Amino acid sequence: MRNLTPSIIISIILAWIFLKSRSKFEETDKELTTIPYSRSDINLLKIIDSLSEDNYDPRRFGVSALEYLKNEAQDADAIPFDWRDVVDWQNKTQLGLLWLENYPVKEICLMKRNKFIFEPTKSGNLPLINNTFSIKDTIHGFFLSVESISEIHTYKSIELSSHDFKLNFTQNIESLSENQKQILLCQIKAEEYRYFKEGSLLSNTSNGLAHYDLRFYNYRIKPVDRIAILHRIVRAWSRFTISQNIETWLMHGSLMGYYFNGLILPWDDDIDVQLSSKSFWKLIKYNNTLVIDYEDEVNLGKYLIDINPFFYKRARSAENKIDARFIDVESGLYIDITILTSEMNQMMLLQSLDEKETIEFFKVFDPYYDLVLTETLPYQTSIDFKINQTINASSLLSCKDFHFYTVEELSPLIPTIFEGEVLYAPNNIEKLLLREYNRKSLYLTKFRDFEFNKIKHLWRSNIVEYEFNTILRDFISFHYHSIKQSTNMKRHSFNISELIKFPAFRVEPWIRQVQVGFDI
Ligand SMILES: *[C@@H]1O[C@H](CO)[C@@H](O)[C@H](O)[C@H]1NC(C)=O
Ligand SMILES: *[C@@H]1O[C@H](CO)[C@@H](O)[C@H](O)[C@H]1NC(C)=O
Ligand SMILES: *[C@@H]1O[C@H](CO)[C@@H](O)[C@H](O)[C@H]1NC(C)=O
Ligand SMILES: *[C@@H]1O[C@H](CO)[C@@H](O)[C@H](O)[C@H]1NC(C)=O
Ligand SMILES: *[C@@H]1O[C@H](CO)[C@@H](O)[C@H](O)[C@H]1NC(C)=O
Ligand SMILES: *[C@@H]1O[C@H](CO)[C@@H](O)[C@H](O)[C@H]1NC(C)=O
Ligand SMILES: *[C@@H]1O[C@H](CO)[C@@H](O)[C@H](O)[C@H]1NC(C)=O
Ligand SMILES: *[C@@H]1O[C@H](CO)[C@@H](O)[C@H](O)[C@H]1NC(C)=O
Repeated sequence: MRNLTPSIIISIILAWIFLKSRSKFEETDKELTTIPYSRSDINLLKIIDSLSEDNYDPRRFGVSALEYLKNEAQDADAIPFDWRDVVDWQNKTQLGLLWLENYPVKEICLMKRNKFIFEPTKSGNLPLINNTFSIKDTIHGFFLSVESISEIHTYKSIELSSHDFKLNFTQNIESLSENQKQILLCQIKAEEYRYFKEGSLLSNTSNGLAHYDLRFYNYRIKPVDRIAILHRIVRAWSRFTISQNIETWLMHGSLMGYYFNGLILPWDDDIDVQLSSKSFWKLIKYNNTLVIDYEDEVNLGKYLIDINPFFYKRARSAENKIDARFIDVESGLYIDITILTSEMNQMMLLQSLDEKETIEFFKVFDPYYDLVLTETLPYQTSIDFKINQTINASSLLSCKDFHFYTVEELSPLIPTIFEGEVLYAPNNIEKLLLREYNRKSLYLTKFRDFEFNKIKHLWRSNIVEYEFNTILRDFISFHYHSIKQSTNMKRHSFNISELIKFPAFRVEPWIRQVQVGFDI
């Protein structure tokens, strides 16, 4: 040590500063600064102009169709595309048909500016709605009748009660169409099999395709693109459920993402939401419905609602723990939807819990259960008593993956915004997260290849690409204020001007790919 001359010390310091600044530079290396597009954006038009058959996948025909229909152009030359045959001006109702031809949905539902049309169809591919009119005509009519819809909407918190969580299978099945009812009754006699099939079935080795629906899997999507697609999916889900008064709320990884900055965690593979049994009976009516979402500025969202026919079996099931999915038919990415019910043989369930699940279960009744050093008899009796009371009041809820909740801790659902759209969060966010993840998780600053930047309130990485832009930044700063409302101040009613909805702020992968060159 004594040998160190001042000049050596200075050069060490300089080297340290240099390395430090270099690592700072590298920190931002993977940040993709994007420019979200709006329909009036001149840049978008330029991109559309630059599309050629070589770099345009016709499955992504949304932009052209949307632009065309919006302008209600009568002139074929108004469409600057080489691939005009995909969305021919004379065939303006071809919209959605490509998919409908390939996938025999029975119902189709169109969403546009809060206006919601639901058209049941009779049978087959591209069927006639009635003897005269087909889906084509419906879509056509949809665009010709633009109603102005009041933008004033107040989002209120939603009180839940234990009645909402009773499946009442035999009772509720009567509310379904005869056809749906028959399918379900047949299903009951059938042997259970894994209903949802993921891309991972394509090979026996872990291939990272566990989060793609097998039917719609095209190619493996890189993380930053996956988040952009999930952004679009969850926004459509928000619009769909709000228009149908389906009460749904964020849970698991999505709730964790919400807690940090109102966004999907950048390493997440899907979106997780839960439903009450009551809302599930509304959703089930839309089974096998293709939701076509015109709200999305630069894309035509096409989402399939698929309900697991084994939903009524509430016992533990690794194969069928997901009750429904809202699937993006373009990419195969989806929202996992699980029902919470109080109808189960809870005592039997409890006996089959493993150690981790047992701790999570007891934490419902004592959040500090894992810190209790000696379980004295009075302590155990008081916990047992709480459990008995909760079960007695039909307040103990669970999904088929053995996460337990009480009605009281979820209720009321608080309206908030996630990825820029209105979605509901359960009331006791911190308590729920602390229970499911470990205590440290809410104070995490590093996870996988990401580090949480406390100034930007953003997960950043110097290994994995992530997106950043001004709308995203504004959203985060807005969100920071809004999460305070929903967790600390417990505001239960928001009007639209308080819960500002943000335009889509993640750039569709194909648009970015056109800009920077294809790399898929
Ligand atoms: C309409 O779409 C069909 C099928 O893609 C195509 O063959 C036809 O040329 C298009 N245009 C007209 C005017 O039908
Ligand atoms: C057939 O469907 C169209 C479009 O939904 C509707 O306007 C028409 O009234 C229907 N006709 C009959 C006979 O139901
Ligand atoms: C996976 O393994 C099973 C049994 O080992 C085999 O029957 C099946 O064909 C394999 N599937 C694929 C896609 O390799
Ligand atoms: C189930 O039945 C009970 C009693 O009839 C009722 O109060 C409750 O609202 C029902 N729940 C659902 C989800 O249908
Ligand atoms: C939903 O529709 C799909 C496709 O027709 C069917 O396989 C499934 O059994 C249906 N689910 C329910 C709950 O009826
Ligand atoms: C809870 O319920 C079980 C089964 O019904 C019973 O054996 C037990 O004594 C109850 N415990 C308390 C503390 O009420
Ligand atoms: C459960 O409810 C019944 C009547 O509904 C009551 O007699 C019993 O004391 C309750 N048990 C507990 C543990 O609250
Ligand atoms: C909504 O909030 C805005 C801004 O806080 C306020 O000016 C407006 O009066 C509110 N509208 C309603 C219907 O409460």
